[in-house]
Amino acid sequence: MKVLGIETSCDETAASVVVDGHTVLSSVVSSQVDLHARFGGVVPELASRAHVEMLNAVVAEALVEGGVERPDAVAATVGPGLIGALLVGVSAAKALALVWDVPFVGVNHLEGHLYASFLEEPTLELPLLVLLVSGGHTMLIDMQDHGRYRLLGQTIDDAAGEAFDKVARYLGLGYPGGPAIDKLSVEGDPTAIAFPRSMLDDGYDFSFSGIKTSVVRYVRAHPDVATADVAASFQAAVVDVLVTKARRAADEIGAHGICLAGGVAANSLLRDEIVLACKEDGRRAFVPSRAMCTDNAAMIAAAGWRRLQSDGAWALDTGADPNLKLSVT
Ligand code: KG4
Ligand code: ZN
Repeated sequence: MKVLGIETSCDETAASVVVDGHTVLSSVVSSQVDLHARFGGVVPELASRAHVEMLNAVVAEALVEGGVERPDAVAATVGPGLIGALLVGVSAAKALALVWDVPFVGVNHLEGHLYASFLEEPTLELPLLVLLVSGGHTMLIDMQDHGRYRLLGQTIDDAAGEAFDKVARYLGLGYPGGPAIDKLSVEGDPTAIAFPRSMLDDGYDFSFSGIKTSVVRYVRAHPDVATADVAASFQAAVVDVLVTKARRAADEIGAHGICLAGGVAANSLLRDEIVLACKEDGRRAFVPSRAMCTDNAAMIAAAGWRRLQSDGAWALDTGADPNLKLSVT
């Protein structure tokens, strides 16, 4: 079954054709990063308009590249995300499903991120501990079976990616901040400044707003500090907390492996440290390719295919839900 996936929840306009939830025939991503960069963050109204302008071309390219004229189903992200942006993809997907007379299926963006790993590694064994870290979410998920999740912990304030973006902005490194801090950290000393590891020994929830404030305070008190040292020390503190908690959670649930998901999973130090930790613990680490960590539509097509098998097609009067939660057991 060839599923066309459409993703427009934030600032990426993406379409992809995936066969039976595992073989990617095409994956086209048009990023709006340049459009939002001068504002230092995503401007919702601009994002919606850009999706309207780009989506037809992106879908056409995905179909041509995939060698598909009429897919067997259409899947689109229905939430969480920016409401205007989501509606562009959902409306287009429903219209296409109607015209082609094929099923439409709505996909939770977070479930999409969980399935990104299975696209590259279909043999991943469950239960799996997934560390989902993006611009909007920081979650530790016990994936017990397909479609069956348990949320072990999440951030109580800023998401990890949000912290990277805010700190980068403060340091004048531009937007998006994650890749900029990742790159600059290579030149810095991660032990130069001991930034706080919030809630390190305290359950599975996270807090990242305190470290952001610590960075601001430190730089104000030490104006001559090397920015690379601040970036590297900040990154080391965030990664330390993420890896320590993921490792402990994996022990508790008896996970076969730890899997990274979401945009922050593209971070070089996080990738290295999770691999190292799993090696020490005799556990499998799965680190998706960087393209599969950040927003794309192949993961939406893959998750959509699974949902179609388990729950069937959705009615065409379905809308989008900007606050959609990952349904957990
Ligand atoms: O999953 P994603 O593409 O979009 C959301 O659903 O949020 O994640 C985007 C987030 C941004 O905050 C960005 O700064 C962060 O992922 N990010 C990174 C890296 N690449 C992207 N954070 C740290 N290191 C990176 N290399
Ligand atoms: Zn995402």
